[in-house]
Amino acid sequence: MAGLHKKTVENFDVAGKRVLVRCDFNVPMEDGQIADDKRIRESLKTIRYLTEHQARVILCSHLGRPKGEADPKYSMAPVAERLSQLLGQPVALAADVVGPDAQRLAGQLQDGQVMLLENVRFEPGETKNDPELARRMASLAQLYINDAFGTAHRAHASTAGVADYLPSGCGYLIQKEIEIMGGALENPKRPFVAILGGAKVSDKIGVIQHLLEKVDTLIIGGGMGYTFLKAKGWEVGRSLCEMDKLELAAQIMEDAAGRGVRLMLPQDTVVADDFAADANTKVVPSNEIPADWEGLDIGPETVKAYAACIAGAGTVVWNGPMGKCEWEAFAGGTRGVAQAMAESSAITIVGGGDSAAAVEQMGFADRITHISTGGGASLEFLEGKELPGIACLDDQAE
Ligand code: 3PG
Repeated sequence: MAGLHKKTVENFDVAGKRVLVRCDFNVPMEDGQIADDKRIRESLKTIRYLTEHQARVILCSHLGRPKGEADPKYSMAPVAERLSQLLGQPVALAADVVGPDAQRLAGQLQDGQVMLLENVRFEPGETKNDPELARRMASLAQLYINDAFGTAHRAHASTAGVADYLPSGCGYLIQKEIEIMGGALENPKRPFVAILGGAKVSDKIGVIQHLLEKVDTLIIGGGMGYTFLKAKGWEVGRSLCEMDKLELAAQIMEDAAGRGVRLMLPQDTVVADDFAADANTKVVPSNEIPADWEGLDIGPETVKAYAACIAGAGTVVWNGPMGKCEWEAFAGGTRGVAQAMAESSAITIVGGGDSAAAVEQMGFADRITHISTGGGASLEFLEGKELPGIACLDDQAE
């Protein structure tokens, strides 16, 4: 399997054992309701494997960013309820993480039963990767499985520290994410096209540099495109532009040319006379952005050019929207790229975060090869960084 030499859930005899499973149940919430349960559904394969093999399953996750103390707003209660619906069996929720209730429920678990700890970030030691908290979490179980791909870039007590105290391996979701994304990076079907968007060059510099070594074509969109246009000497009006990154953008363009990587920039732009959903808009060539207007999306000619490139690709990896796609007037570029990905016969991978949410909302998700459950985690993976939540797990025997 590409890039993953870690033990997996199948490498352990789990029958009758208490297994602590770190999932990423950090789901979007609206008015106390789960707005999208993709991350919960993606965890089911590992949980079902464990219950079918008679393990006693102790699930844990964070939800949101509570400040190291119990906060009912961030309770895992809605997650426990959804899990029990999806699994078709009760999922008891502990009132604490490593306290008396967690210990009592863990002690009472029978083979094939499932419980969930309260939000691990209610413990102040979680995000500090406190060894004492990690040890107390470990004491609840006999085996640790990490399946929280979306949180694997965090070295926290429940994602990394706990592995110091228990035999450990990964679940099926981490396996799938690494297999597909790692496979695309290590051995892509060519042409290999990367599409990078989002607001800032500074957020994506690591991933641009890593992917430049691997891809045949690099497509740029989103707010960060204007820093590249400016670096070419073009006027970008009031568009987002990182003046301190102009040299870097110029260097990236030079590196791409030196490596024979085709770098595509927006040839036209949807500009607005105000940063507002109902601003006046028009489409202009990217070298003719008026001084008091700002670019908020790639234009239709650019969408056509990007779509043609995607249609001819063998592998496409996409991270970051093409424009201010939460506002309909500036969603055309992101929708066009999502549609081209859906229609392409290439292996198509959406690297989490805002672009993944856009693909889901726009209705193209079922025609994409893989939509990562990780935002920050998939970005760090595409940067070639080691993820602490995976590095900490036991290695496969040679
Ligand atoms: C995510 O949603 O990206 C992960 O769950 C990590 O959450 P965090 O950024 O709060 O650590």
